[in-house]
Amino acid sequence: MTNPTITIDGDRLWRSLMDLAEIGAYDDERTGLRGVNRLALTDADAAGRRQVIAWMEQAGLAVRVDRMGNIYGRREGTDPTAAPVLTGSHIDSVATAGAFDGCLGVLGGIEVVRTLNDRGITTRRPIEVGVFTEEEGVRFGTDMLGSAVAAGRLTLEYAHGLTDRDGRTLGGELARTGFDGLADVRLAPPYAYVECHIEQGPVLAENGVELGVVTGVQGISWQEITIHGRAAHAGTTPTHLRADAGLAAAQLIVHLRAMVDSGAYGDLRATVGHLVVHPDLTNIVPARAELTVDLRNPDDAQMARAEEALAAFLRGLEESRPGLSLTTRRMAKTGYVPFDEGVQKVIAQAADDHGLAPVSLLSGAGHDAQEIAALCPTAMIFVRGEYDGISHNPREYSTPEACAHGVDVLATTLLRLTDQD
Ligand code: GLV
Ligand code: MN
Ligand code: MN
Repeated sequence: MTNPTITIDGDRLWRSLMDLAEIGAYDDERTGLRGVNRLALTDADAAGRRQVIAWMEQAGLAVRVDRMGNIYGRREGTDPTAAPVLTGSHIDSVATAGAFDGCLGVLGGIEVVRTLNDRGITTRRPIEVGVFTEEEGVRFGTDMLGSAVAAGRLTLEYAHGLTDRDGRTLGGELARTGFDGLADVRLAPPYAYVECHIEQGPVLAENGVELGVVTGVQGISWQEITIHGRAAHAGTTPTHLRADAGLAAAQLIVHLRAMVDSGAYGDLRATVGHLVVHPDLTNIVPARAELTVDLRNPDDAQMARAEEALAAFLRGLEESRPGLSLTTRRMAKTGYVPFDEGVQKVIAQAADDHGLAPVSLLSGAGHDAQEIAALCPTAMIFVRGEYDGISHNPREYSTPEACAHGVDVLATTLLRLTDQD
């Protein structure tokens, strides 16, 4: 059979998604919903990892853990010399997550294996399901970290030395949680990589379709900016004598929005998602402000112009007041990554064969696929989200049907790729 299709067990996939969502679950006061908080290498993440490994082993996968804590479950094929087809994603989450971000790709990969087992199907190439460490980057400050080290873009030493806000190192947390594995972190190039993920945006819903074929991922720039001012009495310090770090932070935030609104930097998005002032007291002019700037842009040249404009604004801010100074630290930086057209075609054909007309779209979010793309032909399947595709929020939701259809297409895509020479 040259173009087989295969249909997974949607109920079993959904049960796994809901079971994993109980690990790290919390009651979200703002939404009144149950959310997920499973920051990388916390106890909750470690419990989630152990559950995923148990499911992998129940599905007959041979599990290995590498020195970044990346987990791979391998199902052998008939050709022991053939490079595997890799699928997967991440199960670490942001602090206000839903059940789907990353988990759909990991549990979808395991569901594909369960389905192949049920049907007694043996593939020529092996299939591996990967679970990458600290994709979110919200605990240790660099996103797609595990996959970036696996692909060789970042070093193990850099990654192990990163610290969280309490000063704990990633290397230490790997050891503490027992996920400091022994397998070589540099991944031997797979034959191909396919990741199924929720879209996390409104494009599929706007197009009235359930699935998307992802053409690539836009560029991401993360910086931490510390503004140093001078603590002073709120009641007695005349305005002209203040070096107010909080005010400078506010000016920066408003300026970033003006840059976006100007349209002068293409399709730029800018977010200050972390901001703290010190000493953080009512009657003291802030002595210091710490904030992060997250820029996204599908065009690398426009991203470079936006970063230059930001740097120029920061220099101007520093000069605007005696006593103000600024330091910046690069947290993460990736350019636009196009996905492989051949793998996109296999996904699109699989979707068509399942009667699901997909649209092609660029990813607004970062994904492990953009790192693995450096090693092998790579593309992604996106699954529609409800409520405008909201994500990084407990309201994140994709229907059981949409999730099942995404993993049907993943299964058929993997099956066809494992048969390629
Ligand atoms: C990953 O969630 C990202 O920040 O794009
Ligand atoms: Mn994700
Ligand atoms: Mn995410």
